[in-house]
This record gives sequence, C-alpha cells and structure tokens, in this order.
Amino acid sequence: MENSYYRQEKIWKSHNNSARHGGRLPESDATKCPSKGFEKKLIKGESFLSELVYGAPIEKGCCMQNTSHAVMAQRHEPKDSTDNFPTPPWATRALIEHVIRPESVRGMTCLEPACGQGHMARPLAEYFGSVQSSDAYHYGFGPVRDFLVYPYDALSHDWVITNPPFRLAEQFVDRALTVARVGVAILARTVFLESVGRYEDIFLRRPPSAFAQFVERVPMVKGRLDRKASTATGYAWFVWDKRQQGETSKLMWVPPCRRALEREKDYR
Ligand SMILES: C[S@@+](CC[C@H](N)C(=O)[O-])C[C@H]1O[C@@H](n2cnc3c(N)ncnc32)[C@H](O)[C@@H]1O
Repeated sequence: MENSYYRQEKIWKSHNNSARHGGRLPESDATKCPSKGFEKKLIKGESFLSELVYGAPIEKGCCMQNTSHAVMAQRHEPKDSTDNFPTPPWATRALIEHVIRPESVRGMTCLEPACGQGHMARPLAEYFGSVQSSDAYHYGFGPVRDFLVYPYDALSHDWVITNPPFRLAEQFVDRALTVARVGVAILARTVFLESVGRYEDIFLRRPPSAFAQFVERVPMVKGRLDRKASTATGYAWFVWDKRQQGETSKLMWVPPCRRALEREKDYR
C-alpha cells in the first residue's frame, strides 16, 4: 500500500494548513469529526476522499469542511482502473439544451468513444441524427475500441462527445479534435481547467470555445447510476466548437436543470 495513506497525507500537506498541523489530521479534529469511519479509514490507509466524493454528506462543522476544494476534487483511481463512472443522463441533455443547442446538432453524427453502459450515448441519440458508440472495455453496449489507438479517420464524425477517464482526458481531447469535424464536448471535473501541463498542451493553442460550469452537482458513482448519490466535486462541459475557432472562450453556467431534464427511465 504506498500507499494511499502517504498519497492522502501528501495531499493533506500541500492543500490543507500544513503549517498548522504538520500535514496530519490533528487528534482533536479527528475525534470531533462526525463523519464516522473517517479516522479509521485514514489509519487503515484507505482513501478518505472516496467517502467525500462518492456519497458521504459533507456535514457542517465537520473537520472536512476545512479542506480545500482541490482536496475534494481529487479522485485517485489506480492506473489500470477502467474509471467507469457513468454520467447521469440529465447532465448530457443539459449540454445540448443549454450549451450547444438542439437545433445546431439536428441531423448530425456523433461519436461517444468511451460509452461504458451507454448512459451518455442514449441521451445524445435523442438529439443527433446518429450516434456511434465504443469503449476500450466490454460493457455490452458498443464495440470494444481504445479511442487513443483505434484508427478513426480525421473529421469522420461531426461531434465527439464523452466523459473520458480523468487520467486520459488530455489525450482524449487531443484525439477528439482530430476526429471531429464540427466540435468536441468533454465532461470533466472543473479542475481540468487548471494545471500548467494542460495549459501548455491544450488551452494555450486550442482554448475551448465554451467552458460551461454546472451550478448543480453532478454526482457520479463507480460502475452504476445512483439517483441519490451526492458529491463534493464540481463538473463542467468543455466545448471546442470549430465553427467558433479564433473567438474568445465563452464562460457560461449550466443553469439549474436537473429536475427538468431527469427522466424516470434513466434509472431503470
Ligand atoms: C467516466 S466513464 C464514462 C462512461 C460514459 N461515457 C458515461 O458518461 O456514462 C469513462 C469510460 O471510459 C472508458 N475508457 C477508459 N479508457 C478508455 C480508452 N482508452 N478508450 C475508450 N474508452 C476508455 C471506461 O471503460 C469508461 O467506460
């Protein structure tokens, strides 16, 4: 186990009052913390962040309230993880309804190259003329294709839209910009916007045409859709509409829309 204890401790040190606590959760705070299991998990060397990101409510007055947003936005998946976190379908409808607009994609083709069980591909099919789906792993939805190596032709699809594995998101953007004729939309954690590496590799020369921040949380749970899940992580749509190349990136918000765009059938 390198363990996740040391990883978490490093994060704690760098992001959270390291001077005050020397990077360790102070005894007093740990015993006060009402998130049961937190201290035990830390001591056992497991990821306490998983509790924050995948469901535990962030309680008022809890020591975790002191953690920075950066800490909460961390998600540590092992390198060989499939990183299968299905997107609640309303978040995909939100992209079309509030960012790209339904009339602009009518009759167009779309590729969802990391489709998982199809939770994003299905709502996309409500708007596009056709949607092609694939994934590097077998989920019984689309054919098995690694998007980063499969020889899709350049400009072969009007749009490429997906929620990629976070650790490969940069490569996905790069590949998608080659494959898409009209545009690319990537759902990613808000923090994808930062980092010198991403600035130099993507944003400096290929800034998105729109950055659309969800004002509501978009809870994602490993391996399944969970209507009741909560999350401390913010998400945004990063859109590269090639028709708007050269224009200043537009900062926008995805307004509250979960209630209007969520369907009973999404969770069946
Ligand atoms: C965060 S999940 C999103 C699944 C689906 N797009 C959705 O939103 O419901 C990321 C998906 O990427 C797939 N994946 C991981 N590496 C991939 C690769 N190199 N090429 C294609 N798909 C990949 C995983 O199997 C997983 O289904």
